[in-house]
Amino acid sequence: MNHLQALGLNGTPKCGRAFNQPLADYITSHLPNPHFPNTLAKDMVRAFAPGKCILFGEHAVVYGHPAVAVAIDAGVEIELSESDSWTIEGMPFESEKHPHISHILNDVFDYGGSPLKIKIESGLFSAAGLGSSAALSNAMGAAVLRIMDSNAELDSVKLARIGHAAEAKAQSGRASPTDTATSALGGCVVVAGNQVRGTKHVFDASMVTPEGERKWSVCEVELPVDLDAWLVLGFTGIGSPTGEMVAGVAKLLEEDSSKYQEMDAIAMITQAGLTALGAGNLEAVGIAMDACHEKLQKIGVSSPELDSLVEAVRPHSLGAKLTGAGGGGCMVALTQHPQRVAEAIEVAGGTPLISRLGADGVRIL
Ligand code: PMV
Repeated sequence: MNHLQALGLNGTPKCGRAFNQPLADYITSHLPNPHFPNTLAKDMVRAFAPGKCILFGEHAVVYGHPAVAVAIDAGVEIELSESDSWTIEGMPFESEKHPHISHILNDVFDYGGSPLKIKIESGLFSAAGLGSSAALSNAMGAAVLRIMDSNAELDSVKLARIGHAAEAKAQSGRASPTDTATSALGGCVVVAGNQVRGTKHVFDASMVTPEGERKWSVCEVELPVDLDAWLVLGFTGIGSPTGEMVAGVAKLLEEDSSKYQEMDAIAMITQAGLTALGAGNLEAVGIAMDACHEKLQKIGVSSPELDSLVEAVRPHSLGAKLTGAGGGGCMVALTQHPQRVAEAIEVAGGTPLISRLGADGVRIL
């Protein structure tokens, strides 16, 4: 059984040679046909996967508490077209330089078809905590699946698993499923050690990391359809070093165990924010976001740049906080006045990105 079959993705390639198809059959089936002059036309597929934003629970999730993330409108689009040679963004494709992509092509799908011209377009700030590598993996998974089998159904859970494995492969075996699950499923996703009250269980994920096996319950929360609010992300322009920030928090907790209280407080705020979100109580969601930012400051993961963007948007927002690992990266505001918030972010030196709350997940375009 190859990796594709192991994941339950058992499609017959539409173009290119199937895993088990004899070469002679493949060549015969691709001979020019006078009645169907398009037989040799090159195939093209486009797929899109959204980025994500953590609303509550970053850092606390590392200690088993829940994290709540939503898919955002911006994301990564991949275009694959059959070609005579392997290229990516017009340059020769060197697989070792693109671990997510080569893992999906080779390890997951065992792709044996024509060379591909790969085009990538990202609407996400990179290294900013918006899940750009997860979106890339999910869009690539969807696009490869579809170029191999035009009838293949997109199964978002399977794509989330593929994306998670690709992330782990590219990140020395360490990756939580938060980014890939949110990008694949869309909407609002809760990741925790155990299923969280008030959520719907979608799948369990596990991974053998260098520190031992880790397990997560991935759940979703249905957001009310008529939410009258927007998210505005503000990028500080500084990269967010997730590994460094997580290590810094671990050191802080080791030196001062009273800081575990901040983690417990974040977990309580997360539960309150989640309940408010499910009920469409936007004021309460905003209050929880403000409270969460204060706790994140106390564990040392905010920065002067993040604080200054958060302060700048407060007069026009229901709530605002840093999102993701901190240190740099982005803050996020919940607001009914997205243009005003975007302007405030720009004036304060950041780059804004407006999104709905909980966009759709991975899709074929
Ligand atoms: O900035 P991001 O998207 O890498 O978020 C990191 C979230 C943390 O809780 C800090 C780390 C993690 O693995 O969940």
